Amino acid sequence: MSDSFDWPALTAQAVAVSRRAYAPYSRYPVGAAATADDGRVVVGCNVENAAYGVVLCAECGVVSSLHATGGGRLTHVVCVNGAGEVIMPCGRCRQLLWENGGAELEVMTAAGVRRMDEVLPDAFGPEDLESFDGR
Ligand code: THU
Repeated sequence: MSDSFDWPALTAQAVAVSRRAYAPYSRYPVGAAATADDGRVVVGCNVENAAYGVVLCAECGVVSSLHATGGGRLTHVVCVNGAGEVIMPCGRCRQLLWENGGAELEVMTAAGVRRMDEVLPDAFGPEDLESFDGR
């Protein structure tokens, strides 16, 4: 774990972007902020839809921004709700984060910093596809 990492600064960016959330249906804004391995910060907010099931979680925005601004790997991530409280990424978003940060990605949780392989143990990932030669 990187004890020196500035989690308060990253969390402040998540809080800031949560204010841009489009969440008229749930009224539950979410902001997410992450650092990439080159040091840049990428952010996202949830974007809901009248067809409720097609909601874009805040982490979807983070991952899109990661790729849209140059790619790389996520190293640290934090998600907050509209009250500025740290929340856990939903199950689907843990899978998104795994793909783009892997086991070592550090996730801020209400219980402190945890590795991605703690919050998504025994994950399915790219290696599973590579290890199968039947395609
Ligand atoms: N939401 C996120 O943006 N990320 C999560 O990890 C959990 C849930 C959003 C989706 C929906 O717009 C709202 O929170 C309530 O579920």
